[in-house]
Amino acid sequence: MIDQGRQLAVRAAVRLDSGVTAEMALDQELGAVGADHPQRRRATDLFYQTVRWQIRLDHAIGRALNRPLRDLQPEVRAILRLGALELLVEQHPAYAVVDTSVSLTGKLAPPAKGMVNAVLRRVSQEGDGPEEEDPVTALAIRHAHPRWLAERWLARFGEDATVAMMEWDNTRPPLWLRINRNKGTAAAYEDRFDLTGQHHPLVPGALAVGAQPVRSLAGFAEGWVSPQGVGSQLVANSLKLAAGWRVADVCAGHGTKALALIERTSKLDLLATDLRPEALRVIGQEARRLGVPAPKTRSMDAAHPPEELFRSFQAVLVDAPCSGLGTLQRHPELRHRCQMADVRRLAENQTRILAGAAQLVAAGGVLQYAVCSLEAEETTDVIAKFLGRHPDFSAPGAGRWLSPWEEGTEGFFLMTLTRHGA
Ligand SMILES: C[S@@+](CC[C@H](N)C(=O)[O-])C[C@H]1O[C@@H](n2cnc3c(N)ncnc32)[C@H](O)[C@@H]1O
Repeated sequence: MIDQGRQLAVRAAVRLDSGVTAEMALDQELGAVGADHPQRRRATDLFYQTVRWQIRLDHAIGRALNRPLRDLQPEVRAILRLGALELLVEQHPAYAVVDTSVSLTGKLAPPAKGMVNAVLRRVSQEGDGPEEEDPVTALAIRHAHPRWLAERWLARFGEDATVAMMEWDNTRPPLWLRINRNKGTAAAYEDRFDLTGQHHPLVPGALAVGAQPVRSLAGFAEGWVSPQGVGSQLVANSLKLAAGWRVADVCAGHGTKALALIERTSKLDLLATDLRPEALRVIGQEARRLGVPAPKTRSMDAAHPPEELFRSFQAVLVDAPCSGLGTLQRHPELRHRCQMADVRRLAENQTRILAGAAQLVAAGGVLQYAVCSLEAEETTDVIAKFLGRHPDFSAPGAGRWLSPWEEGTEGFFLMTLTRHGA
C-alpha cells in the first residue's frame, strides 16, 4: 500500500522545484486533499525536513549516483531525497525505507524503480561517506547549508556561533503566536482555552503552542491570536508610539506588523503600503477578525513615495524586503535559492527604499528599519550609507541584533533613526 504522507511530501517537493515558496508548495498540495487528511502533519514534517537537510542528502545521493541529480525526473529526485532523509537523519530501518521508496517510485515513475533501489541501498550502506577534506565544505555539508554562507558566517561570527546558527536553522520551528492584548494576556488565553503553551522570555505576549493549521487554533476566529515569529513581534514592539500618531508601514505585506501596532496602541492613524496591492487586500479582513480599526492601505513604491505624503508621519516603519537569511528555520528553501548576488541586489533596493521612506518622516519623527537578515550588506552597510547621505537623521543608539543562537528568535536587525527638528 502507498504511504500517503510520503506521497504528499514528494508531490509538494515537485511543486517546490517549480520555484514557489515551501509554504505555498505544501499549501497547494495539502489544499487538494483537504484540511482533515490524517497524514497532513506527517507530510508537512517530511517535506520540511527534506528541504532543510537537502544539501547533506544530495551529497550522499550524489556519491551513489552515476549522473547529476538535477538530470533526474523531479519525482525521482524527491523520492531519493526523502529516502536519504529517513536513512541518514531520521535513522529509520533501511529495508523499510528502500521498500516504501521503491513502491512509491512504481506509482510515480515506474522506469526508475531499479535505480532508486540501488541508490538507496548504497546510501544505507555508506551513510554520508568520508568527510570532505576542506573543513568549510565539510561543515557546510554536515549542517546542510551552502558553502558560501558557511564561509561568510565563519569569518563574521566564528565557528561556535556559525554551528549554533546552522543547528537552529535545522530544528523544527514552533508556531509562535502573538496574543491580542485587547482580548487578554497570554496566561488569560491559556486559561480560557485550557491549554499550556511555551512562553518566550524576550516577548511577554508571545506563546508557542503545538504546530497545527493556524485556522484551527483555539480562539483564532475570535481574534485572540495571530501567527507571528518572536523576532517579528519584537520589531513591532520596539517602535514606541503614542495614541493619535500618524504612522506609515511602507513595506506592510499582509500587515502582520501593522496590525500588531494597531493592537498595541489605540487610535493610531496608520497607513499600510506595499508595492503589491494583492498583499494588502487581506489586512481589512484581518483587522475585523482581531476587532481593531483597519489601517488605510495604499499600493506604493516606498523608494518613490508621492510628494503629498512627505514629512507627514511621526513614525515610519521600513520592514524591508530582504534575503530572509535570518529565517532559514521557518523558510529552509531560501538557503537553496539565495546567492551572494541576491544579497547585493537586495541591499541596493533596501538603500533606495530607506531613502524614499525617510521623506515621509516629519521633523522630530522616527524612522525604523528592520530586516530578517544578519548580513552586513543588508544591515549596517545600509544604515551607514543612509546616515552618510542624510545629515538631518541620526541614530540615537546602536542597532539591535536578534541572533537565533543568543536570543532564540529569528535573526533580525533593527535600527531606529530620528529626524532632527521640532
Ligand atoms: C519583509 S516583507 C514585509 C513583511 C510585513 N511587514 C509583515 O510584517 O508581515 C517586505 C515587503 O516589502 C514589499 N516591497 C518590496 N519592494 C517594495 C517597494 N519598493 N516598496 C514597497 N514595498 C515593497 C514586498 O512586497 C513585501 O511585502
